[in-house]
Amino acid sequence: MPEPLRLGIAGLGTVGAALVGVLQRKHDFLAQRCGRPIVIAGVSARDRTRDRGLDLSGVEWFDDPVALAQSAGIDVFVELIGGDEGPAADAIRAALRSGKHVVTANKALLARHGVELARKAEDKGLLLNFEAAVAGGVPVIKAMRETLTANTIQRVYGILNGTCNYILSEMEATGADYADVLADAQRLGYAEADPTFDVEGFDTAHKLAILTSIAFGCRISVDDIYVEGISNIASADIQAAAELGYRIKLLGVAQRTDTGIEQRVHPTLVPLEAPIAQIHGVTNAVAIDADIVGRLVMSGPGAGGEATASAVAGDIADIAKSRPGHQQAPALGTPARNLTPYKQARMRAHAGGYFIRLSVNDRAGAFASIASRMAQEGISLKSIVQHGTSAAKEDAGQAVILVTHTTTESAIRAALKNIDVDGHLVSRPQMIRIES
Ligand code: HSE
Repeated sequence: MPEPLRLGIAGLGTVGAALVGVLQRKHDFLAQRCGRPIVIAGVSARDRTRDRGLDLSGVEWFDDPVALAQSAGIDVFVELIGGDEGPAADAIRAALRSGKHVVTANKALLARHGVELARKAEDKGLLLNFEAAVAGGVPVIKAMRETLTANTIQRVYGILNGTCNYILSEMEATGADYADVLADAQRLGYAEADPTFDVEGFDTAHKLAILTSIAFGCRISVDDIYVEGISNIASADIQAAAELGYRIKLLGVAQRTDTGIEQRVHPTLVPLEAPIAQIHGVTNAVAIDADIVGRLVMSGPGAGGEATASAVAGDIADIAKSRPGHQQAPALGTPARNLTPYKQARMRAHAGGYFIRLSVNDRAGAFASIASRMAQEGISLKSIVQHGTSAAKEDAGQAVILVTHTTTESAIRAALKNIDVDGHLVSRPQMIRIES
């Protein structure tokens, strides 16, 4: 009988509980596929008394996740606690120090400490697997760090936050405002009571930081990401975008440019016919532009207990299948010591098309003056449309919608500043980038 792979699971929330269920339900199936059984040897969670509907008889309980991580009774430490510091970080470091493989779904921790942890794991010949950290059940990490190794990736981008995609999809489907849709999403459990982390783009930024490192073979640099969330998107933007043949999505985008790597998270207009525009509700999607394979788009459930447990269980199964002395792929696709320093491209140099929605005082010359301020910055307009009435509920101005040809962020910002100085605007201009 082959030796079982013994797991220590820390964190028995939605994902942890789902993982225990999957491992128990599919015990024989996994043993057959991996060539050895996978057993839960120890667990740790905050509250021992809580009824999680799980049968944990015969499983050792640890109040302290660090003690579990160091226990001689486990081979793999599975971290499902969350948080970029504190118990999760302490326990993962302890696990690697004591020679245990690590599986985690913790994007915040990886975005901050991924390179350090990858290096520690590689130095000891251990595996650090984190498929569930980005896009939940969508196997994008494995695809990028293993299958696409021979490709030079030019751009990776995606819908990485289900909460934001749900809110934007509902705003489009119902015509409702952001605040109303957010309140509904909170009632339905799709958004947290404090939704800041999701709706302001930080969750997407953590996931993007990990993808960027794997895609470009560079160190992780989450603090260099330009981040804008969706709380500023009005139903007027969604309607105007639709009239022009676009849909608004919160994208995380990382791309190579002449001046470095551009990493940005912001609401984005994508053409209605683009594959990424077809992703509705809580679903996630990742698109990769690579030189050999061309364009790949992967989509699926980005959150939820079962979908995330599928990715975690896959990571565990990879360890069960691995043979001692046969190192698998490095955590970040490139050995941590070979990762290049991160070279940041300036956001001001970002080149692309822009959607601008202005609310303008209805007087002679306003339209001409706006067009002239754009021309002054060398910005070529693709379209300029004046609606008969304001498309914004909050003010009495006339809506003017502009779409530009490719220009730069600095040119757009200069033009909008000048338009504002000219005194034609009733309210703050809206500016949304267009992704080709
Ligand atoms: N809160 C995330 C989302 C899921 O809304 O997609 C976990 O990363």
